[in-house]
Amino acid sequence: MSKKSILLVGVGGYGRTYVDLLLNHLDREEYPVAGVVDPFVEKCPLYDRIQEEQIPCYDTMEAFYEEHEALLAVLATPINLHAGQVIEAMEHGSHVLCEKPLVPRLQDLDAIRQTMARTGKQLSVGFQWCFSDVILKVKRAILAGEYGRALRLRSYTAWPRDFVYYGRGGGWAGKYRARDGSYVLDSIASNGIAHYLHNMLFLLGDRVNTSAPLVSMKAGTYRANAIDTYDTVAFSGKTEEGVPVYFYGTHACNFSIDPTLVYEFEKATVTYNLFPPKDQIVVHYRDGRVEPLGSPNDSKESGKLLGTLGQILGKNPAYCGLDTIVPHLACFDALSDFVPVWNFPQELVVDTGEQRYVKGLHWDLWRCFEEGKLPSQMGFVWAQPEVAVDLTSYTAFQG
Ligand SMILES: NC(=O)c1ccc[n+]([C@@H]2O[C@H](COP(=O)([O-])OP(=O)(O)OC[C@H]3O[C@@H](n4cnc5c(N)ncnc54)[C@H](O)[C@@H]3O)[C@@H](O)[C@H]2O)c1
Repeated sequence: MSKKSILLVGVGGYGRTYVDLLLNHLDREEYPVAGVVDPFVEKCPLYDRIQEEQIPCYDTMEAFYEEHEALLAVLATPINLHAGQVIEAMEHGSHVLCEKPLVPRLQDLDAIRQTMARTGKQLSVGFQWCFSDVILKVKRAILAGEYGRALRLRSYTAWPRDFVYYGRGGGWAGKYRARDGSYVLDSIASNGIAHYLHNMLFLLGDRVNTSAPLVSMKAGTYRANAIDTYDTVAFSGKTEEGVPVYFYGTHACNFSIDPTLVYEFEKATVTYNLFPPKDQIVVHYRDGRVEPLGSPNDSKESGKLLGTLGQILGKNPAYCGLDTIVPHLACFDALSDFVPVWNFPQELVVDTGEQRYVKGLHWDLWRCFEEGKLPSQMGFVWAQPEVAVDLTSYTAFQG
C-alpha cells in the first residue's frame, strides 16, 4: 500500500471537492487515488478527470477492497451510510476521514469506538474549521486566557435553500429516517449550517481538539418546507461553565445572511461577517486593539485531508475526532428527541415554485440574534414557546 493512498467514497455531491483537490491540485504521485466508490459515479461533475486518470471505480466498498487497499478512506456519502462505511473501511485496514455529521445518533458511536479500539485505525471528521490555522489561533488564544472569560457566544445564518437542495441525492435531505428505517436526522442544525454551531462548542472546549457540551437549552424548531425535520432553528443553551450560547438559522428565507458570529469574552469580542470585509475573523480587544486574523476558510478540503494524513503519519495532533463532535451531535439529537417541529402559519409562507420562504423571517431572526433573545420573547406571530431541554444525560457519551 502506498504511504498516502486514498479511497474516495461518494463523489457526486460535496465529495467532488476531494476529487478536484486530489486530481487537479495535489501531487498525484504523492497522494495517489486508489479508487472511487459511488454507484452513480458517472454523475460526478469530474467524471471525465476520473476516467482520464484511469482511477478504478466501484459500486461498493466491498468490491473495491477485494482488489485494493487504501491508507485513508474519505467518505462524502448520505449521513445514514456513514457509520457502516466507517466500520467497513477500518475493518479493511483504512483510516477514515468522514464528512460531517459523522452519525445521526449518539448511540451510533459505540460500534465505531469499538472498531477503532479493535483495529487501531484513526478517525477524523470533516468540520473544516477545526483544521483552519485562523480558528486554531483563536482557540489557542482562548485557552491561553488572552480574551478572558467567555461571556456569550452567538451565531446566525440565513441561507435560502430551494426544492433542488431538498430533493438532491435520492431525497435524504430533511429526512428523519431513510427508506430502510435507519436514522438520517438531516436538518439545518445537524447539517445545513452545522459548522456555525459546532464552531462555538469547539472554541469553548477545554483542549485544542475538544468541544464543550451544552447542559441545557431552550429551543424552537420550525419548517416551511415539506420535510420531516426543520429548516429553521433558534435556541439558547448553556455550557457546564454557564456560558450562554445562542444559535439561529433558517433555510426558509428569501434573503441571504452569511454566517455571522459574535463571540464575547471579558477582554475581547471575536467577530465574523459582522462588519466588512467579509469572511474575516476579527478580534476587537477592550483596550482598543483590532486584530484581523484572516479567513477561517483558509484551508477547506486540503486542510482536513492533509491534517488527517498528518495525524495518521504522526506529524500533527488529531484536530477533529470523536471528542470534538459529540457536543454538536448531542445538540441535534436533543432537538429531535424533545423539541416539536412547528409549521409556520400558511399565510406567512410564500411558494415561488422553486423555493418556500417565510415573509420577513431573515429579519425577525436577525433581531433575535442582535438582542440575544428567542422568538417567543420577541412576540413574533409565528413564534411558539421554546422547549427547555436538559442535556446532562447526553454528556455521558462524551469521551
Ligand atoms: N464539510 C462541508 O462543508 C460539507 C458540505 C456539503 C456536504 N457535506 C457532507 O457531505 C456528505 C454528503 O453530502 P452531499 O450533499 O454531497 O450528498 P449527495 O447526496 O449530494 O451526494 C452523495 C454521494 O454519495 C453517493 N452514494 C450514495 N450511496 C452510496 C454508497 N452506498 N456508496 C458510495 N457512494 C454512495 C451518491 O451517488 C452521491 O454521489 C454529507 O455528510 C454532508 O453533510 C459537507
